[in-house]
Amino acid sequence: MWNISLVGFGNVAQGLTRILADKRERLLAKYGFEYRITSVVTGRRGCLVNDQGLDPGVLLEAMERDGGLWGFEEARAVDPLEVIKSPHTDILIETTPTNLERGEPGLTHIRTALKAKKHVVTSNKGPLVRALPELTALAEGSGVAFRYEGVIMSGTPALNLVRETLAGCEIQHVQGIVNGTTNFILTEMEKGSSYEDALAEAQRLGIAEADPTSDVDGWDAAVKACIMAVLFMDASLELEDVERTGITEVTQETIQTALSRGKRIKLVAEVYREKGHVRAMVAPVAVPLARPLAGIMGAMNAITYTTDHLGDITIVGPGAGRIETGQALLSDLLAIHRAHANGAHPARVPF
Ligand SMILES: NC(=O)c1ccc[n+]([C@@H]2O[C@H](COP(=O)([O-])OP(=O)(O)OC[C@H]3O[C@@H](n4cnc5c(N)ncnc54)[C@H](OP(=O)(O)O)[C@@H]3O)[C@@H](O)[C@H]2O)c1
Repeated sequence: MWNISLVGFGNVAQGLTRILADKRERLLAKYGFEYRITSVVTGRRGCLVNDQGLDPGVLLEAMERDGGLWGFEEARAVDPLEVIKSPHTDILIETTPTNLERGEPGLTHIRTALKAKKHVVTSNKGPLVRALPELTALAEGSGVAFRYEGVIMSGTPALNLVRETLAGCEIQHVQGIVNGTTNFILTEMEKGSSYEDALAEAQRLGIAEADPTSDVDGWDAAVKACIMAVLFMDASLELEDVERTGITEVTQETIQTALSRGKRIKLVAEVYREKGHVRAMVAPVAVPLARPLAGIMGAMNAITYTTDHLGDITIVGPGAGRIETGQALLSDLLAIHRAHANGAHPARVPF
């Protein structure tokens, strides 16, 4: 029985909770995976702790009905660090908002958990982009797992594909469309919309944030490029080392000129080696229509990995969403469970 603490209970953690509630019997029957949610911590929407386990369906109903967790007897203010260190936490699910400058509060949550020998599963890019090598070493030293499939392409297994399925291959080059918002905007512009109208439509559909800077200026894609450079090419790269151009200067003319030459403008995140150095960059690129990335439209994501043994391998799928990212967390939970059942060292699954 795994005791799970959820720190952050927004879209992604609720997506996971929905899956855990709906699939409890199947997870037990098929994988022998049994869980108990022992705590839920939010920023402003209340906290709940119950060592006997909280009912996931009831938690979701409360969020839907009241927009928070205040209506329960157990509701009280809690210190997330106490919850994380508690003997009633085996696995921390960390899904607080991404902070790119310092990685907080997620970084402190994850550090505390790993030091206390708790497994960690997260979809929060901030702590990774600021401290991935440190957190990996902490997990190794503590003999626990630190997993983060959801940080790139949500539940589409972009990381596990390399870690597990392509094991033994060398990743020589990575090219990806890893930001759905900008791909949606570029797709709308190709249909004739102006940049401003396409952005407004993305905001209306909830694909873009009210403040779209992180997406349209290429920060989100740069973070992912940086993480992939560290994971796949052992680079010691900082976010600030990623060369970055967003899509705000892309015009109708740029798009139509590219099309007339058999190419499509895409915001591409790229990682490769050049003269012994790893380079990571994000920029609008005219991709030949024959290449798989050129066919990725709307909010969809894709990554092409160039490998030594197989040439190009492209993975395509959703890059965001509640259930989609909940699936990423679930796949990490099941990986921890599998390693535990096999008696394997949970931290030692290299990329
Ligand atoms: N949404 C996606 O499709 C997606 C995909 C991939 C990765 N991600 C990443 O996954 C993470 C979660 O995303 P989300 O969409 O679920 O975000 P969200 O809906 O904004 O939820 C964030 C949660 O964290 C809580 N929180 C904020 N500060 C906290 C603190 N100091 N201590 C404890 N809890 C705190 C919030 O509580 P309040 O609501 O009370 O403030 C909320 O419950 C983010 O890092 C995001 O970048 C998201």
